Amino acid sequence: MGKIVAIDGPAGSGKGTVAKILSKKCNLVYIDTGAMYRAIALEALRNNISIDDEDKIVEIALNSKIEFIDDKIYLNGEDVSKDIRTMEVTRIVSPISSIVKLREILVDMQRKIAGDNDVIMEGRDITTVVFPNATYKFYLDAEVSERANRRYKENLEKGIETTYEEILDNINKRDYNDMHKEIGSLMRTNDQIYIDSTNLTIEEVVDKFRKEIV
Ligand code: DC
Repeated sequence: MGKIVAIDGPAGSGKGTVAKILSKKCNLVYIDTGAMYRAIALEALRNNISIDDEDKIVEIALNSKIEFIDDKIYLNGEDVSKDIRTMEVTRIVSPISSIVKLREILVDMQRKIAGDNDVIMEGRDITTVVFPNATYKFYLDAEVSERANRRYKENLEKGIETTYEEILDNINKRDYNDMHKEIGSLMRTNDQIYIDSTNLTIEEVVDKFRKEIV
């Protein structure tokens, strides 16, 4: 096992942005585990599989090859980096990620992708389930209105059509679901370094992380 920087936190807390910057500055392989759950959700949508059909969703995961190359995510050889960010996927990904067997398959994949590399991995259960013995464990947080605002602006820039209210509602639902899972719930623990990004710029958040990572 190489050096592992594990970051958990709710949607829109800035995990992705910060992890990408730190991966370059600190020479770490960046692994976005939310993107992996999104890729499975996308494949379920494409095959008209209901979110209640757990067996079929698990089958998708067992037959899927997920790779990260140059900050892009590939599903069975196809670059799906854009397609996994639509509101359709965002709406169903949290319930899909509650499927225990699916989580086991993806957690296993996440450990394999990390391999012996020095990595920065972000998600909901990285500090607790995937790498409880990570070198550094962080919980990145922000107030829900600020997180919804950030997502709204991001979507506008990407040309994804949504309203602020729709995003706020989605984030509230995902927060609840992601914090109340049978396995792999998002939670705060005593051994995480807690950072609240509500009133901080990206640079300020990155600085706080860098002070901890030696
Ligand atoms: O980080 P994100 O918003 O792209 O993640 C999408 C969903 O995937 C999120 O609502 C919960 C789920 N997820 C998870 O259950 N465990 C992880 N390690 C990462 C994401």
